[in-house]
Amino acid sequence: MKWAGGGTATITPFKDQTHSLAKKILPWTIYALLPIALFRLYFYPLQLPQSSTDQLPNTTPITISSSSSSSLSLPPTQFHSSEEEGKTNETPCDYTRGRWVHDRRGPLYNGTTCGTIKDGQNCISHGRPDLDYLYWRWKPKQCKLPRFEPNTFLELIRNKHIAFVGDSMARNQLESLLCMLATASAPNLVYRDSEENKFRRWNFPSHNATVSVYWSPFLVKGIEKSHWEPNFNKLYLDRVDEKWASDLDLIDMVVLSIGHWFLHPAVYLEGDLVLGCHYCPGLNHTEIGFYEVFRKGLRTSLRTITERRGSTGNGIDVIVTTFSPAHFEGDWDKAGACPKKKPYKEGEKQLEGMDAEMRKIGVEEVEAAKENALQFSGFRLESLDVTKLSLMRPDGHPGPYMHPFPFANGVTERMQNDCVHWCLPGPVDTWNEILLQVMKKWEGELRRGE
Ligand SMILES: *[C@@H]1O[C@H](CO)[C@@H](O)[C@H](O)[C@H]1NC(C)=O
Ligand SMILES: *[C@@H]1O[C@H](CO)[C@@H](O)[C@H](O)[C@H]1NC(C)=O
Ligand SMILES: *[C@@H]1O[C@H](CO)[C@@H](O)[C@H](O)[C@H]1NC(C)=O
Repeated sequence: MKWAGGGTATITPFKDQTHSLAKKILPWTIYALLPIALFRLYFYPLQLPQSSTDQLPNTTPITISSSSSSSLSLPPTQFHSSEEEGKTNETPCDYTRGRWVHDRRGPLYNGTTCGTIKDGQNCISHGRPDLDYLYWRWKPKQCKLPRFEPNTFLELIRNKHIAFVGDSMARNQLESLLCMLATASAPNLVYRDSEENKFRRWNFPSHNATVSVYWSPFLVKGIEKSHWEPNFNKLYLDRVDEKWASDLDLIDMVVLSIGHWFLHPAVYLEGDLVLGCHYCPGLNHTEIGFYEVFRKGLRTSLRTITERRGSTGNGIDVIVTTFSPAHFEGDWDKAGACPKKKPYKEGEKQLEGMDAEMRKIGVEEVEAAKENALQFSGFRLESLDVTKLSLMRPDGHPGPYMHPFPFANGVTERMQNDCVHWCLPGPVDTWNEILLQVMKKWEGELRRGE
């Protein structure tokens, strides 16, 4: 990755203020500015010498675990609310409200049995000693969220192609899904980009199903800072990134996941017109923050999907995974940056500030896109609203276990921590459990309606 040119010197001026300030509600300019330094390093730790293991592409093929499970039947489930819910007698389930409860069964897979987990998120194989974080299940307030059923999921993507598009959160979610599906059927890696594993594709011969991941951290066209100007990204908010969009004709369902990269310093354009910038001292542009820019990027992407697939007469299924909160409590490069070992209890942690705003924008843009898609047939859109349930899992991040056995030499003065991505197995598995419920609901509606 070429984004993180900075190194530690860039961090120092902001570092000490970050955590005390981030707790308060701040004007967005300051709030937005503070995490930048952190994001640059924990998303792209490749520049730091001690993190060389992160550079190794994860080429290990998936291995199959023996625990083949679940039936093909679709159990009667209560579903997520949507505008069509009036058609059914099912009580809609609000998956966003609930709590984490202990579950002795543990995850479907294990970090040592699934080979598709990025090293930095494979907490078990990196020696994380406390394994309590594996034994929690999300319990929505008014209904039950069934355990992931790999065979049902595979059945629903039979002869189809599901693509995860976005930043490293899209990858995190994809890898969780692959590990769970692999417990039922072995996938083959059929494509991988030559260098950085940003574009990969798997096929499940048992179901002729294709699962892929596309790296596109803004979804819209962006020029990385190192290619243009040393300190700022350049984003074209009116144009999608064709690295994924040019494949739209080959995709049946797309899961979009973006957010964190919009915190980076950037100059924003629409056509040739400069709209403004975010954190760009020295440039004569108006500071416009990143919230509305994030909204525009998402809107352009959803509109492009709708227009291109609408014009062919074929719809497409679109899921937008909402913003995934980080949990830094201490300095990112010191031991104990995200030290919690248990989920928050119900009511213990409120969704607020940047997390709440980014989530809201995602949900609102999906609702707007649903309206826009009404003129065409075959479109199904939904937000996968994981922000709150993820916020309640401060224990689910790799922290220092982004590196293998970080305490092998005791607690050292500098220790990098990843309090952004999620351990696999881990809370992201729940995102895919909810995704499956959304797909089952769609399938049920289709059956009832035709
Ligand atoms: C993962 O699987 C290995 C090998 O079967 C086993 O030794 C280990 O205890 C498992 N770890 C967890 C956390 O279940
Ligand atoms: C296999 O899946 C692809 C989509 O991924 C589809 O185009 C093709 O028709 C499927 N093949 C069969 C035999 O159904
Ligand atoms: C900055 O922009 C303002 C308003 O567009 C303009 O008046 C000023 O000359 C510009 N300054 C520089 C250094 O370009």
